[in-house]
Amino acid sequence: MMPSQKLVFLPDPDIARSCYVSDNAQYKQMYQKSIENPSEFWGEIADNFYWKRPIDFDNFNRFNFDFRKGPIFTKWLDGATTNISYNLLDRNIRNGNGKKIAFFWEGNDPRNSKHITYAELLSEVCRFANVLKSRNVQKGDRVAIYMPMILEAVITMLACTRIGAVHSLVFAGFSADSFAERITDCQARVMVTADATWRGQKLIKLKNICDESMDICQKKGHTVDTCIVVAHMQRSELPTGVSRVQYTAPMLNCRDFWWHEIVPGASANCPPEWMQAEDPLFLLYTSGSTGKPKGVLHTTGGYLLYAATTFKFVFDYKPGDIYWCTADIGWITGHTYVVYGPLANAATSVIYEGTPFYPTNSRYWEIVEKYKVNQFYTAPTAIRTLMKFGEDIVKKNNLTSLRILGSVGEPINPEAWLWYYKNIGREKCSIVDTYWQTETGGHIITPLPGVTAMKPGAASSPFFGVQPILLDDNGKEIEGEGEGYLVFSRPWPGIMRTLFNNHDRYEETYFKKFPGYYFSGDGARRDSDGYLWVTGRVDDMLNVSGHLMSTAEVESVLTEHSSVTEAAVVAKPHPIKGECLYCFITIAENAVFNDQLQTELKQLVRERIGPFAQPDVIHNAPGLPKTRSGKIMRRILRKIAQDDHDIGDISTLADSGIVDVLFKTKPNTQR
Ligand code: WT7
Repeated sequence: MMPSQKLVFLPDPDIARSCYVSDNAQYKQMYQKSIENPSEFWGEIADNFYWKRPIDFDNFNRFNFDFRKGPIFTKWLDGATTNISYNLLDRNIRNGNGKKIAFFWEGNDPRNSKHITYAELLSEVCRFANVLKSRNVQKGDRVAIYMPMILEAVITMLACTRIGAVHSLVFAGFSADSFAERITDCQARVMVTADATWRGQKLIKLKNICDESMDICQKKGHTVDTCIVVAHMQRSELPTGVSRVQYTAPMLNCRDFWWHEIVPGASANCPPEWMQAEDPLFLLYTSGSTGKPKGVLHTTGGYLLYAATTFKFVFDYKPGDIYWCTADIGWITGHTYVVYGPLANAATSVIYEGTPFYPTNSRYWEIVEKYKVNQFYTAPTAIRTLMKFGEDIVKKNNLTSLRILGSVGEPINPEAWLWYYKNIGREKCSIVDTYWQTETGGHIITPLPGVTAMKPGAASSPFFGVQPILLDDNGKEIEGEGEGYLVFSRPWPGIMRTLFNNHDRYEETYFKKFPGYYFSGDGARRDSDGYLWVTGRVDDMLNVSGHLMSTAEVESVLTEHSSVTEAAVVAKPHPIKGECLYCFITIAENAVFNDQLQTELKQLVRERIGPFAQPDVIHNAPGLPKTRSGKIMRRILRKIAQDDHDIGDISTLADSGIVDVLFKTKPNTQR
């Protein structure tokens, strides 16, 4: 056992006392009820929301996780009808929150900021919903969203839900190719974007990327007929050091429309479309180990309950609190914990457009002080980056408003946890290390801020309604202490329902390996206190700065290059990013391995996938370690990437000599 695993920090008594769940007995009692009597547990929570057609308690939750018994499915509250935007906006306004601020928006430049109340948000959502209707968007239609962190992104999402359209956001750091692949997969006819956005001093010309992706779609035979563009440039201050910009977004007649020319004139009244609890709410693409992204589909009723409940208890959100999640709206964290969870609780949140490093490296802490943030939720990679700048920079700002700190995206290393706890949390704040996935809809293993004795690096305990199980290689359940595959034998309300248009792949990916269980793809360990420690992916997936991608998708990009005959990509530990890409390539006989080739390959990956996927190391490999049947042994490649000579058994290799050759040809990466 590593020494750090013995470290335990109790929640601060002042903080714990005021939490919704403030002692272990209460957590246990609530947890037990959620498992033994889910309809009563979730039914009481559902009473806080509006159901047009009421919940049928005889039909509260049905599911099948065992493919041997028939198709896999999960249904919650089937038969009830509701509308998400109604619950997030109209309901809160009726409860007296119309004048309450829903979002403080903080621009990339500190001179740009504004806020929007619940009542104003409802009007804007209705206007935009009417615009979508006027472009013939109907219930069930998909709308592609490629937007920066601006209020219109939230407005667009909620406008979709108002009329029953299904939004599909693509993180605006994905390339035109990646965006086009996602648009064609879900056949979105309508796209919403902005002309451009500043990330620090860097201008990202979003509309150009959208144009490129619409061209790619067209070539594949799919037409986007409407593209609505927020003019964000003209209202943004220029970053310091930039004197002027020459960028006007190209606009195509009859297809492209400026937001400000069509939205303000639309009616601010739009009755909600009443949706079935199991109607699709949104889809969000996530990487799959075969390379082609998977369209994870979430539905209406269960997701609403789960987003609302996890937000309330994990962040202990109380009326009057100011909450800030730094995640981009294009990831699941942005969906559940920037938009749906906070709004379902009538929360006031901060949305920030820029980076942690502009104008200075203390921007995050300035924002915490400016808005007196109570709950701050970010990723380990951000913490590790900010640690580099030292502790003095943190002392410049008053961070005493903070009560709860969150971490998400990958296991947090104890060193980063301790830095976060000491320097940001003043050794007072509770840290919630929230484990979950795009697929799970919300937190599933997490500490609770008023209860859990915190162990740095442990996601700790299941949330209400969640029953984690560890399996060994034979699929046998591990009781007590041990390490194995992390699976779940029953659904919670927020779990994904299918992969868009591909239910077979859904069953194959998540339910085939261990019949009767949802398999997360992660490994985990249970310690002697029953705490869960998520150890990371056990499949061919990489997690770079919290961005999940598959080795296969990067390999297929590398082999597109005419000089590359074969490629194998593995994860290499990285001090800031958590993991980085180490790429082994074998080159064609007539090709030359030089700086230019490396630059071209890096560029290709940026273009095809996005800048965040850029390889760190490209290794000119004369050959790859393969079994006699030709399967690349990634286990060995991972060791080589880490310069770990303790390779283990290589007797199954067709040519064991290749291992030495690869150690000898390693590029110098000790930078
Ligand atoms: C994968 C899911 C959940 C939103 C962000 C990522 C890893 C996520 C933790 C954590 C250890 C974590 C897992 C998971 N992961 N949070 N607290 N501790 N690992 O969503 O892109 O769907 O990635 O991220 O490996 O499977 P995602």
